[in-house]
Amino acid sequence: MNAAVVAPSLLAADHGAFAQGVRDVEAAGLTWLHVDIMDGHFVPNISFGPQVVADLRPLTKLHFDVHLMLSHPDRYVAAFAKAGAERLTVHVEADHDVAGTIAAIKAAGLAAGIAMNPDADPRRVLPYLDDVDLVLCMTVFPGFGGQSFMPSVLESIRFIAAERARRGARFRLEVDGGINVETGRLCREAGADTLVAGTAFFKSADRRAFARALTA
Ligand code: DX5
Ligand code: ZN
Repeated sequence: MNAAVVAPSLLAADHGAFAQGVRDVEAAGLTWLHVDIMDGHFVPNISFGPQVVADLRPLTKLHFDVHLMLSHPDRYVAAFAKAGAERLTVHVEADHDVAGTIAAIKAAGLAAGIAMNPDADPRRVLPYLDDVDLVLCMTVFPGFGGQSFMPSVLESIRFIAAERARRGARFRLEVDGGINVETGRLCREAGADTLVAGTAFFKSADRRAFARALTA
C-alpha cells in the first residue's frame, strides 16, 4: 500500500508570494506541492505557467506534482519537464493522444498521471492503468479552488482502487477538490492515498496538525 501523501495546491497560496507558499508547505513537514496549470480553455480559469515552476525549482526539494488542465497537454510536456516538474498529470477529457502523451511524459523521465473529471465514467481510464504512476479522481469540476467536495466521486475512487488491487498495480490514487479532514477521510476509506488540499491547507490555523489529521 502507498503511504498517504498530502499535496497542498499552490493555487490557494498568495499569487504575489509563491515562494512563501512553498515555505508554508515545507514548514508543515510536507514533501509534495500540487501545481495547478490552467489554460482558460480546458477550464474557465487561467493560473500560471512553466516559468513559475522553473523559478520555484531552485528554492525547494518539494516534489512538484503538476496537474495540467490544458486542452493540449501534449504540447507542454517538454516545457514542464525543463522547468523541473517531477510528475505530470493530464486529463483523459483533453484533446490529445492520451497514450502518446503518457509515453512522452515517461520518456522525459517524469512520473505520469491520468486525471478524470467528477462526471467521468471511471472505465475511461482503464486502458492506461498499466502505464501510469498516478490516477487523479477530480472531486470537483476543475477550474477553481474553494469548491465543495462531490461525494458521488467516492464510487469512482472505489472502482479504481479495486482495479488497482485486481491488477496488483502500485499507482497512486489522488483526489483533488474540496478536500478537508472530513472529506479526506472519506477518500482514504475509499482507497485514495494522495490528497490535494488547497483552501483547507492554506487557511488552516495549524497546517502541520491539518496535514497530520489527513494522513492519520
Ligand atoms: C481545481 C484544482 C485543485 C484546487 C483544489 O481545479 O485542480 O487543485 O486547487 O483546491 P481546493 O482544495 O481549494 O478545493
Ligand atoms: Zn489540481
